[in-house]
Amino acid sequence: MKVLITGGAGFIGSHLVRRMVKNYPDYEIVNLDKLTYAGNLKNLVDVEGAENYRFIKGDIEDHSFVSSLFEQEAFDACIHLAAESHVDRSITNPDAFLRTNILGTFHLLDAAVKHCDISSFLFYHVSTDEVYGSLGDEGLFKETTSYDPQSPYSASKAASDHFVRAYGNTFKLRYKISNCSNNYGPNQFPEKLIPLCINNILEGRPLPVYGKGENIRDWLYVEDHAEAIDLIFHSGEMNETFNIGGKNEWTNIDLVRLLCDEVDVALSNEIGNSQQLITFVEDRKGHDMRYAIDPSKIEAHLNWEPKQTFETGLRQTVQWYLSNKQWISDVISGDYRAYYQEHYK
Ligand code: NAD
Ligand code: TYD
Repeated sequence: MKVLITGGAGFIGSHLVRRMVKNYPDYEIVNLDKLTYAGNLKNLVDVEGAENYRFIKGDIEDHSFVSSLFEQEAFDACIHLAAESHVDRSITNPDAFLRTNILGTFHLLDAAVKHCDISSFLFYHVSTDEVYGSLGDEGLFKETTSYDPQSPYSASKAASDHFVRAYGNTFKLRYKISNCSNNYGPNQFPEKLIPLCINNILEGRPLPVYGKGENIRDWLYVEDHAEAIDLIFHSGEMNETFNIGGKNEWTNIDLVRLLCDEVDVALSNEIGNSQQLITFVEDRKGHDMRYAIDPSKIEAHLNWEPKQTFETGLRQTVQWYLSNKQWISDVISGDYRAYYQEHYK
């Protein structure tokens, strides 16, 4: 089987590529990635020389490139993760989100129906729970929850989910979609809350908590997400959607406090009490209040549950960042500093 994984140099994609290359030696895994600021080949050193793995640098925004790639390669399946993924950037620069997330997804779908064997090809779209909008104190996102995206990022992911289903209905493209909660773990770009705070603690900088820190997210360790994608890809019912989540809700302020304690323990308090660095800053525009997933479908249908608790996952994450300071310093040069300066003033 020849499987195209898009966005495989990013955070979740690199964990998935490593898993698929190791677990399925008979598959040919092709990783297509533009290597934006969020893509990093250093995430893939483990699989670089593997016989069943190939990397292609390319942009899914480029229709003719995507079309000729599909024509040449005759893929059996595509697991699509390539995306602009950061909500704050979607507020300041939404056009990149429309181009990559909507147009890029359309280019892949179009190439698949034109150049692949439609009777057997599988298109798997990796999506987010943010398409469902924002919850109040009660309730959980189910697969049947109506879409109600609130940010340019979630609107672009919702649109791409709709396109996938529309291609399923119109062109009989076989598809699967999963909508996952917030991921954390090694290799996450330090613009997202957890690695941003770890890096800021190491640099002795303020830990910016938006608003009052009362917004709630449901956190899942990245390897548990990669395992769920693997399971759905191989065993999930065709043309179905699965919600993936950790049943692990935290307010941002409680999470940042916990993270401070975890980093302090790991550093043996060499640089003091990190909680002193917590700083409440201006809220994100249109900040979704709460996300929480009901994962009962994937539990019942595929017998999936997360392997990591938040305690073990967070500990491994902190340890990874402390042991990979070179990785951090490589990714936070240049563009990141400009972004940070502009966003956090
Ligand atoms: P990421 O930002 O870390 O990585 C995105 C990858 O896509 C990068 O390697 C980047 O180079 C690549 N890419 C971006 N634009 C491209 C283009 N035009 N052509 C080709 N490649 C391009 O993202 P992530 O956090 O790993 O998320 C991966 C996917 O999972 C995304 O689709 C995201 O919406 C979804 N998701 C993320 C989370 C999360 O918490 N991070 C949760 C649920 C779903
Ligand atoms: P983030 O990691 O950007 O993921 P998402 O917006 O997709 O949920 O943010 C997680 C939560 O943390 C979200 O409620 C916004 C908040 N947050 C801060 O309070 N400060 C920050 O500097 C960042 C990046 C996020």
